[in-house]
Amino acid sequence: MIWLIGSRGMLGSEIANILTQKNIPWIGSNSEVDITDVNALNNFADSNDTSARQTGKSVSKGTVPGKINWVINCAAYTNVDKAEEESETAMKVNAEGALNIARTTRRIGAKLIHISSDFVFGGNKNTPYTEDDIPDPVNAYGKSKALGEDCVTSEITRYYIIRTGWLYGFNGKNFVYTMTSLMKNNSSVKVVNDQKGTPTNCINLASFVYRIIETSEKAAGLFGKKSALPYGIYNFSDGGEATWYDFANEIYRIGRKHSVIENECSVNPCTSQEFETIARRPSYSVLDKTLIQKSLGLKLSDWKDSLEQFIKDKRFNP
Ligand SMILES: NC(=O)c1ccc[n+]([C@@H]2O[C@H](COP(=O)([O-])OP(=O)(O)OC[C@H]3O[C@@H](n4cnc5c(N)ncnc54)[C@H](OP(=O)(O)O)[C@@H]3O)[C@@H](O)[C@H]2O)c1
Repeated sequence: MIWLIGSRGMLGSEIANILTQKNIPWIGSNSEVDITDVNALNNFADSNDTSARQTGKSVSKGTVPGKINWVINCAAYTNVDKAEEESETAMKVNAEGALNIARTTRRIGAKLIHISSDFVFGGNKNTPYTEDDIPDPVNAYGKSKALGEDCVTSEITRYYIIRTGWLYGFNGKNFVYTMTSLMKNNSSVKVVNDQKGTPTNCINLASFVYRIIETSEKAAGLFGKKSALPYGIYNFSDGGEATWYDFANEIYRIGRKHSVIENECSVNPCTSQEFETIARRPSYSVLDKTLIQKSLGLKLSDWKDSLEQFIKDKRFNP
């Protein structure tokens, strides 16, 4: 069984959809099981992990129905600008929360998939960041996510940390929804053209998370202990790269093509200085995905194709 923490969030709800479609037993929790409270996590685990209930503290290995084999952590403090003013809260949720989850995961004998961010990087590079690059975050959110990674890696060995960025999904506030509404209600929009990353459809990231679990469970078989994908840190995003301005242009083009945006709106570039935000953003946060492409033979969708799938979908509701 899988414990999906943050199951109601933008990414979590897509992972929940896939697990449900694949008939994988899962249980979800959100802020009612506060990840900053290790007792709340332990209590939730103990009351839902049936094998823990039967055997006390030691739990059997392998895929036993009712035993939590995997914990997926999609819960986080995600408001990048507000994190500057509430840096202590961001730290508590993203770092201490990750630590608590890692400890609980170890106690129940499960494996952890923890979602991290491209914002652990500062943007001093102009070639894609690999898994070996050293985090150098430039804002409070990035610092809290970087520390969250350290909390996981220092506490347990059976983890997959996935760094990703520029997510959009049906169930949450995101750039595609914001831009579509702005374009529908204005004759022009200004968008930052000096920050580069890769827009990523949550559905693709959710499929990748599922793929990790599937590959690992298949490799383990009944008695084996081997995991197909070695534990560690992995980058995931859609393919290609874009500035926010490129991203907005594509939203407009596809929105018009599918009659989601019916009026004309001009999309104009501006600099980060012209469009000031509370939190500084990395000017470059493209992730190198060579490792997962080689390890899993994964084919990445181009970000423009993924965006079109998203806008065409009947669930698209900006
Ligand atoms: N969005 C992006 O562009 C982006 C980019 C890179 C990485 N990420 C990472 O991807 C992951 C998922 O992000 P998202 O955008 O899907 O997040 P989201 O939509 O903001 O959802 C956050 C989830 O975390 C839960 N949560 C917040 N504080 C909690 C607490 N103290 N205890 C327990 N649960 C708590 C929320 O529960 P409630 O619903 O009950 O409040 C919600 O389910 C995060 O790790 C984020 O850092 C996101």
